[in-house]
Amino acid sequence: MNGSADTRAKLESLRDEIRYHNYRYHVLDDPEIPDAEYDRLMRQLQALEEQNPEFITDDSPTQRVGEQPISAFGTVEHRIPMLSLDNAFSSAELNDFHRRVIERLKLGDDGDSLRYAAEPKLDGAAVSLLYAKGRLVRGATRGDGTTGEDITHNVRTIKGVPLRLIGKGYPETLEVRGEVFMPKAGFEALNTKARELGQKLFVNPRNAAAGSLRQLDPKLTAARPLDIYLYSVGFAEGGSLPDRHSEILDQLQEWGLKTCPERKVVRGVQGCLDYYSDIGSRRETLRYEIDGVVYKVDSIAEQRRLGFVSRAPRWAIAHKFPAQEELTVVLDIEFQVGRTGALTPVARLEPVFVGGVTVSNATLHNIDELRRKDVRIGDTVIIRRAGDVIPEVVGVIQSRRPAKTRKVQLPKKCPVCKSAVAKEEGEAVARCTGGLYCSAQRAESLKHFVSRRALDIEGLGARLIEQLVAVDRIHTPADLFTLTEDELAAMERMAEKSAQNLIRSIEASKSTSLARFLYGLGIREVGEATAASLASHFGNLESLVAAREADLLKVPDVGPVVAARIRTFFDEPHNLEIIERLQKSGVHWPESEPETTESDGTLAGKVFVLTGTLSDMSRDEAKQRIIGLGGKVTGSVSKKTDFVVLGENPGSKLRKAQALNVSLLDESDFKELISGP
Ligand code: IVH
Repeated sequence: MNGSADTRAKLESLRDEIRYHNYRYHVLDDPEIPDAEYDRLMRQLQALEEQNPEFITDDSPTQRVGEQPISAFGTVEHRIPMLSLDNAFSSAELNDFHRRVIERLKLGDDGDSLRYAAEPKLDGAAVSLLYAKGRLVRGATRGDGTTGEDITHNVRTIKGVPLRLIGKGYPETLEVRGEVFMPKAGFEALNTKARELGQKLFVNPRNAAAGSLRQLDPKLTAARPLDIYLYSVGFAEGGSLPDRHSEILDQLQEWGLKTCPERKVVRGVQGCLDYYSDIGSRRETLRYEIDGVVYKVDSIAEQRRLGFVSRAPRWAIAHKFPAQEELTVVLDIEFQVGRTGALTPVARLEPVFVGGVTVSNATLHNIDELRRKDVRIGDTVIIRRAGDVIPEVVGVIQSRRPAKTRKVQLPKKCPVCKSAVAKEEGEAVARCTGGLYCSAQRAESLKHFVSRRALDIEGLGARLIEQLVAVDRIHTPADLFTLTEDELAAMERMAEKSAQNLIRSIEASKSTSLARFLYGLGIREVGEATAASLASHFGNLESLVAAREADLLKVPDVGPVVAARIRTFFDEPHNLEIIERLQKSGVHWPESEPETTESDGTLAGKVFVLTGTLSDMSRDEAKQRIIGLGGKVTGSVSKKTDFVVLGENPGSKLRKAQALNVSLLDESDFKELISGP
């Protein structure tokens, strides 16, 4: 072999190795090597290609992003049209679809066992990818279904799109179709950055995905966090495919083409409905947006028999979720006062059905957001309600803005107690300065105190609290424990029975935990997790009350801001008085031993960050062990970090640790360390 053949062989084997790791990472979601090792391989390939530019090939993993922007999009005629899907908006409509299928297939009673391939309906942009001899030669948008745009330069930049298929037996020519989407996390990050830079925000991940694909400069597309799932084959020549849709997708996956991990074969209408509710209940936790699920008759032979009507197949249907975004009109904008005095602008709306419920109020978060979105009374706005999240105003439809609208200003006085409103420099939130003088702040603090994750007083609803505050019967949480059954029974909408029950649950709430109690106090910046850390660190309330800021800083995840808030709270005699009254009326919790602190323990003062999955213990256990030995665990790597503990599939924390030269411990190093001398 001569030198150049050697070099070529070396280049190809390096590329194959990288392709294999791409496949493990992107397609199987199961990387075999840490990111740093992957980066090393890529740099090695780049260096070798720089020395031998004549051997650079189009399908090399280094060649994703072209050097030059294109000047205009070419057009692509789809050999087989890219169809759309009929929709079902209810189970009745799904039943109709299923009945038509079994009639056409003459299945009779066997319809219950008909196999459907069920998949999430991804909310992105449809694309076609053409592979010739396993090499990606063209990417196209759906366009009008017949003619699309040539976006090869852009699809090449998507890391989930293989430039070359792997494995064996793929057809000579293979056109696959799927959805390019922007994962929710990437979308949020992109918008956060745009907000910081004062740039225009994307309305939703679908627009962001579609917009990203329509860039002339591939460098712009490459910078967008896009991903892909393939869901069908357009055509295949010179090779064969399995005869079930589900198996075709399994096969695509083996050739390195990503398919959705949530896909599943189900039977009959009942199987479809179960799938619909399962995916529906997990919708919020999926890493990408979906707007329903799709059912496809699994057998390709049966698909052929069913055929098409106009632009949609008779063998598939999209079962849509209730829309999460709808348009409506802003009737008014008011300011609500929260527990900490924060003034939240709330839009009162023409009622609209969205996300499965009727919505008549939507939050605008804070005054800066209101100004930025420039929402005015009279505007037509997009309302979004996703899962259990409070409905929010996404944005204004400018083209529907009437000639006369009214802008809303930040009030100078609290709408409830008339105290001055203050907004600190650099803070987005404006606050009422009335403190507990403000009945709104009082009512909100009480609602927080009785809420499920705090003292959990069942049957003490928002309305009753508001009434009790309005008649000046309750000022602080301690007053709750002085309520009598007769008094409660006399309140509006209260019957004897419910008064009795409420007294019983107030009584029951007295037996609580220190963590719940601390959380319920509503100390600013002290959420549930911090309250739990404080409780387990100090073990009892007295030590916490006595703790100096320096002591507080030893608690995991407590920084200077939180420590100062905690000190301020306990320095206020009024707060201590309330706590004393609560304890006198019988509120109690079990005390525990304070945790070992910095002065002792073998890991005294050492700061740890955990990343990846440990095989032998949960992250919580690992954390407890470290804390037990006097160490600290924080969420992100910084110069103050002493050790990063690496589990399986470590994330970006590993890269950061390497960049900052922080000591790395693998699982066995870590175990040795915590097992002591
Ligand atoms: S199958 C002939 N499967 O929905 C079958 N489409 O309204 C055509 N979509 O343009 C498509 N997820 O962009 C199919 N799992 C999925 C899908 C899906 C999203 C989109 C696709 C298509 C539109 C059809």
